[in-house]
Amino acid sequence: MRAGVNQHISGELRHRFQNAKNVLVLTGAGVSAESGVPTFRGGGHTALWKGMRFDVISSAQMVQRDLPAVWEWFDYRRQLLEALKPNAAHLEIASWQTRFQQCTLVTQNIDGLHQKAGSRDVIELHGNIWRARCVNCNARWEIPSKAALPGIRAEACYDCADALRPDVVLFGESLPPGAFELAAERAEECELCFVVGTSALVYPAASLPEIAKAAGAYVCEVNPERTPLSDLCDEVLTGKAGEWLPGISFDAAEQGRFHK
Ligand code: APR
Repeated sequence: MRAGVNQHISGELRHRFQNAKNVLVLTGAGVSAESGVPTFRGGGHTALWKGMRFDVISSAQMVQRDLPAVWEWFDYRRQLLEALKPNAAHLEIASWQTRFQQCTLVTQNIDGLHQKAGSRDVIELHGNIWRARCVNCNARWEIPSKAALPGIRAEACYDCADALRPDVVLFGESLPPGAFELAAERAEECELCFVVGTSALVYPAASLPEIAKAAGAYVCEVNPERTPLSDLCDEVLTGKAGEWLPGISFDAAEQGRFHK
């Protein structure tokens, strides 16, 4: 199977994929690109909303200054997501949870497409767009689909009636308690680490492959573009996640068949 021109999955990766027990997968916006979710960076563009850079509207300051504007941005993005479906990369990663003894999925994505594809226990480093959180008591509430339409999404906390905000990590905010710590622990334990569809510019998420590498794991990046992590990786598969990922288990199976 080859996604990039003349690029093949190495025998080393096939062998490790076939024999691994403990795998960690870190994903970013690129894994959802083939489902139609715009990435933030990559391809030389930066996402804008009403003339504002995404990291301005998606910031802690903006929640203080203009929470309704922040909701308007996330309602718009949720409305975009309503009709979108997981792609082959999401589905492949979900299947790895039954393939390996331990397969930890860590995502920077807030779109919920991994969960829609059947992935469980997803470590969400940056929260989830389908939840709201109380600015006072921190209670979290699911946002039902179609709630992008005015008047459907809850405005106030059901517990303490204070204001709700998107349960998403905004620029200038820290990650959900314990999420990174658990991900780092798993990165230290894994034998094989995949880095899929992230520009690897945002920390601490981008440090996870570094932790895995330092602990002896084989690190494989899947991205149409090189990233600051590419040099650290043992293998770089240049191209789309939806094209490369299904090919990895296919090749491993073929390989297994020949080697029986
Ligand atoms: N398959 C794999 N990778 C892809 C694909 C694809 N089909 N299409 C694009 N990419 C790659 C791009 O080349 C780019 O390197 O996905 C990456 C997307 O990078 P970003 O848009 O920067 O997304 P991400 O790395 O997830 O951003 C991290 O920054 O904006 C914040 O909180 C936000 O979680 C986000 C964080």
